[in-house]
Amino acid sequence: MGAIRVTKRPDGVAVLTFDNPKGKVNILSPEVVEEFRAVIDDIERDPGVKACVLVSAKPDNFIAGADLKFFLSIRDPVVGERFSREGHALLDRVAGSSKPTVAAIAGLALGGGLEVALACHYRLAADDPKVVLGLPEVQLGLLPAGGGTVRLPRLVGLPAALPMMLTGRRVRARKALKMGLVDALTSPGGIEETAIRAALGLLDGSIRRSARKRPWTERLLESPPGRLLLFRQARKSVLAKTRGLYPSPLSILDCVQTGYAKGPAAGYDRESVLFGQLVAGPECKALIGLFEATTELKKPLDATPPRPVERLAVLGGGFMGSGIAAVSLELAPVVVRDLSQKALEGCARSVYSGLSKRVQSGAISRFERDRLFSRLHLTQEAEALRRAGLVIEAVFEDLDLKRKVLAEVEALVPAECVFASNTSALPIASIAEKALHPERVLGMHYFSPVPKMPLLELVVAEKTAPWAVATARAFAVKQGKTVIVVEDGPGFYTTRILSPFLNEAVLLLEEGARMEALDSALKDFGYPVGPVTLLDEVGIDVGAHVAKELGPVYAHRGLGASDALPRLFEAGYQGRKNGRGFYLYPPRGKRGKKRPNAEVYGLLGGVPRRPMDRKAMAERLALLMANEAVHCLQEGVLSSPRDGDVGAVFGLGFPPFRGGPFRYLDALGARQAVNQYEALAKLHGQRFTPAPLLVEMAKSGKKFYEG
Ligand SMILES: NC(=O)c1ccc[n+]([C@@H]2O[C@H](COP(=O)([O-])OP(=O)(O)OC[C@H]3O[C@@H](n4cnc5c(N)ncnc54)[C@H](O)[C@@H]3O)[C@@H](O)[C@H]2O)c1
Repeated sequence: MGAIRVTKRPDGVAVLTFDNPKGKVNILSPEVVEEFRAVIDDIERDPGVKACVLVSAKPDNFIAGADLKFFLSIRDPVVGERFSREGHALLDRVAGSSKPTVAAIAGLALGGGLEVALACHYRLAADDPKVVLGLPEVQLGLLPAGGGTVRLPRLVGLPAALPMMLTGRRVRARKALKMGLVDALTSPGGIEETAIRAALGLLDGSIRRSARKRPWTERLLESPPGRLLLFRQARKSVLAKTRGLYPSPLSILDCVQTGYAKGPAAGYDRESVLFGQLVAGPECKALIGLFEATTELKKPLDATPPRPVERLAVLGGGFMGSGIAAVSLELAPVVVRDLSQKALEGCARSVYSGLSKRVQSGAISRFERDRLFSRLHLTQEAEALRRAGLVIEAVFEDLDLKRKVLAEVEALVPAECVFASNTSALPIASIAEKALHPERVLGMHYFSPVPKMPLLELVVAEKTAPWAVATARAFAVKQGKTVIVVEDGPGFYTTRILSPFLNEAVLLLEEGARMEALDSALKDFGYPVGPVTLLDEVGIDVGAHVAKELGPVYAHRGLGASDALPRLFEAGYQGRKNGRGFYLYPPRGKRGKKRPNAEVYGLLGGVPRRPMDRKAMAERLALLMANEAVHCLQEGVLSSPRDGDVGAVFGLGFPPFRGGPFRYLDALGARQAVNQYEALAKLHGQRFTPAPLLVEMAKSGKKFYEG
């Protein structure tokens, strides 16, 4: 069965219905492109067909993009280049045809899907939050290679097109209409009929596409000197953001500029050549690998059915509790219990403001905001927890307190209620030590800020039952989280690999590194923030606490923690929260930049500051993080390298273009990595001893990812 159904109507309109028989979304694989070409051949030949409508049979997507499995398989740039050229030839025929074509978009139109719509003569979208249009190729290390870099700027103007292509910014239906990306909106039901009427209207001239009125500022920016300025600024901002580590945004700029300087044909040609290079390159493979992993992680783990959660209870309405409540309201009524009325008021403010932001972006209506907000119940009473199917605690990080709230909950809720702790590092088994039902206790480790951070680390203790895991996991997936399931233990996975990384940063400062140089070195390696800034953000008190908990556990491997953090904390340095940490921050509410706090050097061994090799500093930290990840895999804390890579990238900011610690080690090669570890161990000590699994792999020539 094909992916495109053609219905030729007596009024001369051919309706092309995209309906991928192999999945829930329509994608453009080489086979679908081939089929599309055959359909266009037939339509061009058939004198009975006067106009076309492109529509999707899928409920929430038009065409979601290209076939990523195919892109992953491409090793030779020529193969990618050819695919792009074939796409251009096909879409050029659609755009150049005398038979008008209307795209009817009632869901996602992303990447190649939007490029198909861009080649049509008229775009109609449903007035529905499900409609999302965008060119997210840059997020996968690619560029829009179906004419997007040429057609989009011409349609919506360069100032609006550049952010869509360079950052993957997506737009919803109303915004798309305003910017001229679609020509009209219609109600979601009956879009096909409206599109048919539009096609007939284009045919008889009763509908004419009117060019969007461009404000004078845009006309100015679209003049040749204006464009030059835009390109210069865009390039500067890309380099500032990516530090030149990601080739795709610069390639996109190259294509757009070529298209303007030498005409559309030259722009298309550049798209094909550069796409071929990108799709065969390592960055794109790493980024698509991560994307595919997050898609796989949305599927059920095994056959254990999750139990329904009809009511969620959150204990602690502080920073994390408020975030957890906010991402859960669409799934169930949420009770937040806190002992402090002030905290509950703060929780209400934070949830309401988050919902209002979603109204502003067009994701939900005002009515929906009010409906969701009415599902939030704030209370100081424990009684309200009685009917919860899932309880997530986010009270202070204190073992006794966590045990106490668990006992309180157990006295109230039925045995099938799951109890999850959002602890950052306390072992779940010790929280559940005295539990009546340890089988329903687990960890749901969210990252802050919860609404923004995609990762959830689900921590399974020895006694946790599979049904509890399935229930918590299914709930988190519905919250939109990418869930990695890890085994219980000190620091689980993410905190465990972060801890030696941050400790190494402190050791480097003690050896004489300057904090700005160290931060900058790690950003050059690809981390979004440097480790010293991160310590300030997390809080020096929290860092000291984690070091105290984890240091002794791994001290036998030379990973004992430096005592600098407790010392700094005692001296009154807490980080961003009190404005004084490794850096000094402007007072709350005041603008200004953070400045290095030279005072702390006095508490860091007092050695004079000296220039240090930036690459070497970055590698010390990244290699230590990767080595700890290998230990986690070897010990069974992680069940696969995939989970480890997803956790490190989405939870800790490991450079996405490197794909995660395991892909990074694969890229180095186990042999080379072991040599580097051994050299570092000679210089700096036992903590760099390579994990036995890696040593074995160096001998056998194996990789974490085969193929
Ligand atoms: N902040 C982060 O970045 C982060 C990230 C991941 C995990 N965590 C973990 O999440 C938990 C909460 O952290 P937070 O940053 O939200 O702290 P927070 O101080 O903002 O909030 C804790 C809340 O718990 C309330 N509380 C204390 N005892 C209570 C009780 N017996 N019953 C009900 N409420 C009670 C407090 O009044 C406070 O409002 C901690 O375990 C922390 O380690 C924090």
